[in-house]
Amino acid sequence: MTKQDSQQIIEDQRQDWNRVAGAWEKWDRLFEEQAGYLNHRLVADARLRQGHAVLDVGSGTGYPAILAAQTVGASGSVTGIDLAGEMLAVAQRKAKRLGLLNVTFRTGDATTLPFETASFDAVISRFCLMFLPDVPKASTEIARVLKPNRWFAVMVWTSPERNPRIGLSMAAMKQVFDLPPPDPTAPGIFRLAKPGELAGMLQEAGLVDITEQEFLAEWSYESPEHYYSTMMEIAAPVQNLMAGCSDSQRQEVKRLIIEAASAYRQDDRITFPIAVRVVAGRKPA
Ligand SMILES: C[S@@+](CC[C@H](N)C(=O)[O-])C[C@H]1O[C@@H](n2cnc3c(N)ncnc32)[C@H](O)[C@@H]1O
Repeated sequence: MTKQDSQQIIEDQRQDWNRVAGAWEKWDRLFEEQAGYLNHRLVADARLRQGHAVLDVGSGTGYPAILAAQTVGASGSVTGIDLAGEMLAVAQRKAKRLGLLNVTFRTGDATTLPFETASFDAVISRFCLMFLPDVPKASTEIARVLKPNRWFAVMVWTSPERNPRIGLSMAAMKQVFDLPPPDPTAPGIFRLAKPGELAGMLQEAGLVDITEQEFLAEWSYESPEHYYSTMMEIAAPVQNLMAGCSDSQRQEVKRLIIEAASAYRQDDRITFPIAVRVVAGRKPA
């Protein structure tokens, strides 16, 4: 990938996530309710303690930065970095509402971290690394800013088959219009789905004691329509795939998505299984 291609990806990502920031704020309660436990897992894997200085890479609307700030307490500090200033503005408002004075958010690119070497006691990241043009470079940067003997913990999505919450909208689109098969090396939601790939990159970057686990849980919605509208509002990559659609294609995709989602009815809700790859590694002493 040329430097120009990388710059273009970063610019597109910035615009994409800025565009959906309002929807992420609107649906924040859903994120908290359906995926808040994932933040706890990252806090555990990164071995956070009171007083730690923590970096959250691709913090978006403050996940997992805000939980990290509550964990490290007033003697610690958390920095959330993200390309999209509008996403970070949502995070900032949430931190203010919670009275958290130990968390700051700044715009920046994960592949060129604007921090001194060995300046953080832990680095965490949730659902960001797969969108980067150069994950090995970002892994090296993360290892660089970590202090020796400290931990990096990260989450990415595993495959679309194991994440129908995301995968079924793509399957519906494929039935309605030509969707080119995703380039497995191009940035995207499932770019780091393959077992061992991210772990290998972290190892190459110099981390040790690497663990990898597929964490299984559920994510549920009030109804198929509730699922459809939140997905279309928050998922910038899904919006991009739909961008060239005619109105009739859009209506047909909606019908297919709602039909497919209805198959996940459990009691009075729509409940999808989710599968998250959790990888952690330590910088050698
Ligand atoms: C799916 S959102 C996840 C946000 C948050 N961590 C969460 O789990 O809710 C992906 C985030 O990664 C950010 N991102 C994408 N590429 C990035 C890059 N090169 N550097 C920093 N952040 C990036 C986006 O702006 C977006 O906020």
